[in-house]
Amino acid sequence: MANKHHSSNRELLQVGDNAPFQFTESYKSLRTNLEFMSATSECKSIMITSSVPNEGKSNVAINLGITMAAAGKKVILVDADLRKGTLSRYLHMHRSKSHAGITSLLTGSAEWKDALIPLPQPNLVLLPAGPIPPNPAEMLASPKMKSLMDMLGKYADCIIVDTPPVTVVTDAAVLSRFVDGVLMVVRPGVTTIQGAQLSKKNLEAVNARLLGVVINGYNTKKSSRKDGYYYSYSYEYYDTGRRKSSSDK
Ligand SMILES: Nc1ncnc2c1ncn2[C@@H]1O[C@H](COP(=O)(O)OP(=O)(O)O)[C@@H](O)[C@H]1O
Ligand SMILES: [Mg+2]
Repeated sequence: MANKHHSSNRELLQVGDNAPFQFTESYKSLRTNLEFMSATSECKSIMITSSVPNEGKSNVAINLGITMAAAGKKVILVDADLRKGTLSRYLHMHRSKSHAGITSLLTGSAEWKDALIPLPQPNLVLLPAGPIPPNPAEMLASPKMKSLMDMLGKYADCIIVDTPPVTVVTDAAVLSRFVDGVLMVVRPGVTTIQGAQLSKKNLEAVNARLLGVVINGYNTKKSSRKDGYYYSYSYEYYDTGRRKSSSDK
């Protein structure tokens, strides 16, 4: 890894830019696997989470969104990290802190047309987090959030939801009830085995449907660049099947 710390001006490599072949291909294979899954069970709304910050959740959400949209699907990228939303910044859609987003839709202080931001890529729309609320977990757990997700489902073919880390706050766990499946990101050098296990446990405790694990930043010699920034993404999945409902017990 490069020694430089980019925290003040975080940049992400995006598929379609000057991304290495292997990077773009990894996302295409993730897309293909999700398409296969959707043949047998609904897989329209996908939540991205991980155990701690900096594992690459937002990075994976953006690139999966772009890859899905490139296949002609209408995609909405949802920034449900209401505490530290980063998608607008990563996508260079700079907005003031008070810009409309999920929280403004939930409080009724903005309309859809104010909150949704079309991105330069065809078929791709961003729904930012909006002004930071005092009670993010409660907002995400509310029936209004469910209606919001249902509305998005009417408009889009695919909804990718970025979230905060699942071992730090409950936001992702509560939101998992309103999505079809969850992808967990792990990153060598950042994720610990205990962290990954605890994330899985937290998600299973709320009957989330875990679709699989995305390994971000898998460091191979082949994928390294001169600046030491590694872009290889490998992907594994296991389908835990349908969520258990109380009637299954
Ligand atoms: N594969 C990678 N290699 C190097 N840096 C990465 C990689 N993935 C993400 N990063 C960097 O790590 C930081 C955190 O990524 P981000 O997607 O915001 O993580 P999270 O959403 O999990 O907090 C960002 O500065 C991002 O550029
Ligand atoms: Mg993030």
